[in-house]
Amino acid sequence: MSLSVIILAAGQGTRMRSSKPKVLHEVGGKPMLQHVLDNAHSLHASETHVVYGHGGEQVLGAIADTSVVWVRQDEQLGTGHAVDQAMPGINDDDTVLILYGDVPLTTPTTLQPLIDAASNGVGLLTVLLDDPKGYGRILRNNAGAVIAIVEEKDASDEQKLVNEVNTGMMAANGGQLRNWLSRLENNNAQGEYYLTDIIAMAVQDGVAVNAVQASSVIEVSGVNNRLQLSEMERAYQQRQAEVAMTAGATLYDPARFDVRGELSVGQDVTIDVNVVFEGKVSLGKNVSIGPNCYLKNTTVADDVTILANTVIEEAMIGEACRIGPFARIRPDSELQGHNHIGNFVEIKKSVIGEGSKVNHLTYIGDTVMGSGVNIGAGTITANYDGANKHQTIIEDGASTGSNSVLVAPVKLGKGATLGAATVLRKDAPDEKLTMTPTKQRTIDGWKRPVKK
Ligand code: UD1
Ligand code: CA
Repeated sequence: MSLSVIILAAGQGTRMRSSKPKVLHEVGGKPMLQHVLDNAHSLHASETHVVYGHGGEQVLGAIADTSVVWVRQDEQLGTGHAVDQAMPGINDDDTVLILYGDVPLTTPTTLQPLIDAASNGVGLLTVLLDDPKGYGRILRNNAGAVIAIVEEKDASDEQKLVNEVNTGMMAANGGQLRNWLSRLENNNAQGEYYLTDIIAMAVQDGVAVNAVQASSVIEVSGVNNRLQLSEMERAYQQRQAEVAMTAGATLYDPARFDVRGELSVGQDVTIDVNVVFEGKVSLGKNVSIGPNCYLKNTTVADDVTILANTVIEEAMIGEACRIGPFARIRPDSELQGHNHIGNFVEIKKSVIGEGSKVNHLTYIGDTVMGSGVNIGAGTITANYDGANKHQTIIEDGASTGSNSVLVAPVKLGKGATLGAATVLRKDAPDEKLTMTPTKQRTIDGWKRPVKK
């Protein structure tokens, strides 16, 4: 017996007021539909069928998952009709799990019991709501067994009082589901083929309906507008914050913490407010991050301090570095450890050797720097000649004076020193002082201009 997942994603999402199909709107930097697909993966689904309609080409283009079976629903005739579109690809002995592309935060912890509930009947995921308005109500007999679902628009006043509602998520045997779907009719208030009608059919056929209750409302909540999207985003970020705190991170404010990707943290990490993590970020032990930082696809080793307003992308940060405030580390940079990178310093595609310091107002690009180097304030590696990029090599123990320009390709030798404001166009030899200043002059009899 294998698991097939059917994800309904054909709805237009008019209330999003967007040219983008609803299921492509993102939660935690990832399309809602991708969250649902990831769930299907973690449940070890053998096949996942996505029923799409509105904005079909955009949906197919945005989801790179090659294992998806795409099923087009041209006209949205109801949830039962939507599921039926996928049935040609379903085997009779499959267990079929029905999910929704706009319900992104369901967890396998909730879905696995639902799948298990289909082993001897139909699994139905329900939830208790204080305000059940708009949802299909779960009808039970006196013995407490589920007998049907009635939609809000078809419900009597008495039925509307029921606060156990249908989440829409169900699991059933493929053959039975096929049979029930083929018997659906649309003589109801909305003129739609309701998936929910299969519950009464199962009861008629003597198949047990096993209701499973969701542990939280957010897990079964859908998104219809941007307000709900923002609520979903906050709930998702709260979860990420809890994961980080459980792993040993102190968050100064879990409500001002955003993970748009995957974050892993070591013990005793501290994260100040308004830090955004994107892509894959890993933080070692005792890492401290100040307020308003942005880290993307970056690995940070133990004991690193990142001060306020620092931006780091696609970089490797070695042990015990101190970076910022106001530093920018750009892609393909590697700090080998114990480095100080100070304010208004930009590093791009460069290796900074062990213990080297770049403390103030500097641009280092396309550079291989050795260890124990000291870069003076305002040093620039002029790596671009207007057409091509060139490399700068700075060997161990070298030092640059303030406002030096290293015109690449160029090399600063081991232990070499540059005088202030040197414009280095040829390699500087090891262990010597090199400088290119103009000679200092003083002009006698010169007068400051006066205001007229
Ligand atoms: C549905 C359930 C209701 C449940 C509620 C939970 C039915 C008849 N009703 O109602 O019992 O309480 O969900 O949110 O199933 N879709 C398609 N193709 C279609 C129709 C719908 O792909 O032809 C998709 C939509 O994109 C949407 C989902 O199915 O994501 C639910 O459809 P919708 O029409 O919103 O159902 P509800 O009226 O909310
Ligand atoms: Ca709905």
